[in-house]
This record gives sequence, C-alpha cells and structure tokens, in this order.
Amino acid sequence: MATGKPAADEAATDTPPRGRFISFEGIDGAGKSSHIEALAAWLRERGHEVVVTREPGGTPLAERVRELVLHAPMDALTEALLVFAARRDHLVQRIEPALARSATVLCDRFTDASFAYQGGGRGFDLAVLSELETWVQGRVDGMLQPDLTLWFEITPAAAAARRAAVRAPDRFEAQDEDFFRRVSAGYAARCAAEPGRFARIDAHAERGAVWAQIEVHLQKRPWA
Ligand code: TYD
Repeated sequence: MATGKPAADEAATDTPPRGRFISFEGIDGAGKSSHIEALAAWLRERGHEVVVTREPGGTPLAERVRELVLHAPMDALTEALLVFAARRDHLVQRIEPALARSATVLCDRFTDASFAYQGGGRGFDLAVLSELETWVQGRVDGMLQPDLTLWFEITPAAAAARRAAVRAPDRFEAQDEDFFRRVSAGYAARCAAEPGRFARIDAHAERGAVWAQIEVHLQKRPWA
C-alpha cells in the first residue's frame, strides 16, 4: 500500500555522499598552514563546500583545550588525553556533520600529530595512543581517518630557521632539534604504515614549488 513515505532503499539513495577529509601534517615550521587556504580556494573553485579547521581546536571546547595543551605544563599522559578529548569534541561537533553533508574538510593536523608529537617526540606509549585512537575515531563501519594526509617534510634544522623568524614559541615549538627528529620519525612510521593515505611533500622548496606538488597529488584523486 502506498504510504506517501519513501521506501527504505529510496531514502538511502537520498543520503548525500560523504565528503572528503584532508589533513595537513609536518613539524612546526614546515610551512603547511599557508597552503591550507590555497587548497580551500582551489577546491571551492571546483564547486566543493570546504570547511577549514585545526587541531587541537576547531570547536569552542577544543580551542580551550588547545590553550592548555600549548601553554600549561603537564605530564605526557595528561597531554595525550587532552589532545584526544579535544579531537572527540571536534569530530562529533564539526567534522562528522560536515562530512555527512558532503563538505570537504581541511584539517590542520589530526591523529598523526598525536603519534608524531606525543608518541615520537615525548616517547609516550604508542599502544595507549592506538587505544585512544580507536575510542575516539571508532565507528560502526571502521575507524575514521583522513582520505588524504599531506605530509610536509622538512629537516628539523630548516624548520628551526623558519620558526626563529616568527613569534614566541609554545611548549612544542620551544623543543630542541632532537625532539623534532623524533617527531619526524613518528610521521615517517605512520606514512610507512599507510602509504596510500599519505602524500609526501618536499617542504624545503619555495612556496610555488610546494603548491605544485600539492596540485599533483590532488589531481591523482578523482574526487578532488
Ligand atoms: P600548530 O598546528 O603548529 O599551530 P600553529 O601553526 O598555530 O603553531 O600547533 C599545534 C601544536 O600542537 C603543534 O606544535 C603540534 C601539537 N600537537 C600535538 O602535540 N598533538 C596533537 O595531537 C596535535 C593535533 C597537535
């Protein structure tokens, strides 16, 4: 009997396709932030709704957590719990709703930063980070991860020279080159584990040449 309501399978076809999730990673001073707005403009020109956001942060609650993580002294477990707590709020309040309405989300750092900074830099237990990742990003259909991660790779020395030219350092930016070597190794391990998700960008190049590399990676993605 006709009810006037769409059948379940018709309703399912009305669900908009999920949007794409792109994260930007690299050690402090790699220069990733300046390319996020450029990529947002590039995608908008191609008709995408784009949400630009960052971690830790992206929601009022998570931005408050960011202030603590970047400036208040704390132990490594507290730091790990806070970055994942901020991430949970960000996912629930902002990222998931955007993806559900087909928007493209550009996120300045995501979970790879926790593995690189807390895991690599601080030497915090990777198994605990994996557990937190499952708790925070677990979904009925698997773990939510970016579709593409642009990893801006640069030597710690070159990044330190760039950082010196800008503002007062936060708790991470104030670390020595050895810390950033460990952070870089943390990113390299994540990239080796999921090479299909990562796109390696040589961030030593000048701005235009870095952008050209990003464009090449985007053009390989049929959805971009
Ligand atoms: P960053 O994204 O570099 O912002 P800005 O360009 O304004 O300095 O700063 C965020 C810092 O937070 C960065 O040093 C890395 C750190 N961080 C972690 O330690 N763990 C995380 O999970 C995330 C997302 C960031």
